[in-house]
Amino acid sequence: MSEKGVSGSDGAKRIPAIIEASGVRKSYDSGDVKVNALKGLDLDIAKGEMVAVMGPSGCGKTTLLNCLSGLDEADDGEIVIEGESIVGMSDRKRTRFRAERMGFIFQSYNLMPVLSATENVELPLLVAGVRPKKAHKLALAALEMVGLADQARKRPAQMSGGQQQRVTVARSLVNEPAIVWADEPTGALDSETSKEIMDLLVRLNRTQKQTFVLVTHDPAVAKRGHRIIRMRDGEVESEEKNAGTEDLSNVGARIETNAEAYGSSNAGKN
Ligand SMILES: Nc1ncnc2c1ncn2[C@@H]1O[C@H](COP(=O)(O)OP(=O)(O)OP(=O)(O)O)[C@@H](O)[C@H]1O
Ligand SMILES: [Mg+2]
Repeated sequence: MSEKGVSGSDGAKRIPAIIEASGVRKSYDSGDVKVNALKGLDLDIAKGEMVAVMGPSGCGKTTLLNCLSGLDEADDGEIVIEGESIVGMSDRKRTRFRAERMGFIFQSYNLMPVLSATENVELPLLVAGVRPKKAHKLALAALEMVGLADQARKRPAQMSGGQQQRVTVARSLVNEPAIVWADEPTGALDSETSKEIMDLLVRLNRTQKQTFVLVTHDPAVAKRGHRIIRMRDGEVESEEKNAGTEDLSNVGARIETNAEAYGSSNAGKN
């Protein structure tokens, strides 16, 4: 069993880094041109943290999300999620790993047009093998949580952009994932609706203790998280903690404590 990412038996209060990435590389070959989208990137994210990833168009933000979440395969590097390495995991196992532990929110809502709000939210549960009746009940509860109980039977085309995005938020959370990945979740929304969606995500982060990694171009969105990671040209350029967010002071310390925990547990074994 891997010792990484699992809280040590010798220290009760350690909160593990839920995402540990090191030396992650990814390049794309399109014709004669090779694009190095990620150039050996290192990143640790603490459990319960809300992290915003920013950076100019083309710097590799979406590639990072896709590789860390296992939607796409990195060429090189180590990616450990909740103590399990997803590098070298079979496609089948990785798909299940994602279905059970991760939720996704994208800019284009990716809702199925012929399905109702409830049916859209049921989908990830049905994929994960939950019985239809139970899936229906959980989907309704998730829609209620995002304030859409009264829209449950509507199809996406009958809802506003903000409502559609709330359906995707409900869908991303219905299986109670440990990690929610969001790629420009408010990119298609006006500033008022964007704030509403962020209020919702921040509330879920604080109450459900889920870890959020969200890519955004909007500084107002990025400010709501605990930490901002700035990328440039396939690498982390800098990072900053956001002053004024709750629980913030603990987050950086958590990761350091965790690194120490790994260090000391390893040292103990040598
Ligand atoms: N499937 C692909 N095939 C070839 N090149 C790709 C592919 N996907 C991304 N790239 C290239 O990799 C680099 C990083 O792309 P990525 O989509 O990760 O950027 P991004 O930071 O998300 O940009 P944006 O803010 O515009 O969404 C870019 O140079 C892009 O052109
Ligand atoms: Mg992108």
